[in-house]
Amino acid sequence: MTDHHFTDVTGRPAIGEPDYWEPVIFRRSEIDAEIDRLCALERPGNGRRSSVFTHPRAPAGSPSLAPGIRVSLDVLLPGESTAPIRHTSTQFGFGIAGAGRVSIGDTVHDVGRYDGWNHPSWLPYMYTNTGDEPFVRLTYSNAPLLERMNVHLVEDLTDITVPSAQQKAMPDEPDARRTSPYGTFELADGAMLMPYETLVNPPSLPSLALVWAWDEVKDHLDRLEALGESYVGRRLYLLYNPFTGRTNGTTPSFFATITIRPPSIVDRPHRHVSAAINYFFRGSGWSRVGGRKYEWGAGDLMFTAPGWMIHHHASDDGDRVYEVTVQDQPLNIAMESLLWQEDLKQPARVLGAEGGFATNRTPIGSSA
Ligand SMILES: [Fe+2]
Repeated sequence: MTDHHFTDVTGRPAIGEPDYWEPVIFRRSEIDAEIDRLCALERPGNGRRSSVFTHPRAPAGSPSLAPGIRVSLDVLLPGESTAPIRHTSTQFGFGIAGAGRVSIGDTVHDVGRYDGWNHPSWLPYMYTNTGDEPFVRLTYSNAPLLERMNVHLVEDLTDITVPSAQQKAMPDEPDARRTSPYGTFELADGAMLMPYETLVNPPSLPSLALVWAWDEVKDHLDRLEALGESYVGRRLYLLYNPFTGRTNGTTPSFFATITIRPPSIVDRPHRHVSAAINYFFRGSGWSRVGGRKYEWGAGDLMFTAPGWMIHHHASDDGDRVYEVTVQDQPLNIAMESLLWQEDLKQPARVLGAEGGFATNRTPIGSSA
């Protein structure tokens, strides 16, 4: 007996816009209370005191804040370590309190408040609290998408030794596709044929565990304040991981950006297919998303941009705002699905496949 069947979609009309998850805000007070609750627990066997920010629309058994982004609140008490683990999901970590050491394969980083770091896929890792107060971090993971695809592989380990079979890739020869003795060749008008030998040996690059120290990032970021009120772009830096190449990511799925907003800056309304999650760590302001206004302040975590909704952000009078934003933009560039509309009076573009957008910033080295 089989229940596989055909679904007749003949003549079925396009379904229109998706049913977006609405914005949600986890307030600083809620996050602080959850940190306190995690700290008060008896140490779990694997050492991971962890709680997932869960959107009310997230499916049971696969909690997440955006459909493709899981954010967890991870806590370690002084002297504690987590048990080693590895998985096929990739992560971005961001410290929000205390200090700790993250060992990822052969790489060790000492990290603290507002430092960011990435986790390559399938490398064993563990965390240790090296300070005298709780070490608290946010972890952004693409696991929900892999779970939906039913291919999220996770292994508990006894140590973080990189298995000898897992050799780190070295830069390939300039273009293995063309130097392969089996050859990839053109049929007509750009259509090509590639042999199996190249299919199973794609160009590879070392996937490194990188760290972006807040002290250094802040120094560069604060200089963007000089761009002045007439600047139409965003005053931010992407924590760029060269491994992600043309998709401009921190991990292959996500970018993380750090933004400075001087007081009273109002962004232009825009929209993009990538989902955005903002963690504000200084100042206050508001966002208008899908016509509704949301106010936020330092210590709040907000799912700000669901799907294709029109939105923009603004800082209040007074203090400058710092925020870290994670979006699943690299994933959407790789899928050729990143529709972006920077100016609502102009058509949207498929970023990565069409020319992108320009700002009114003067190029470095120009005297104009
Ligand atoms: Fe946006």
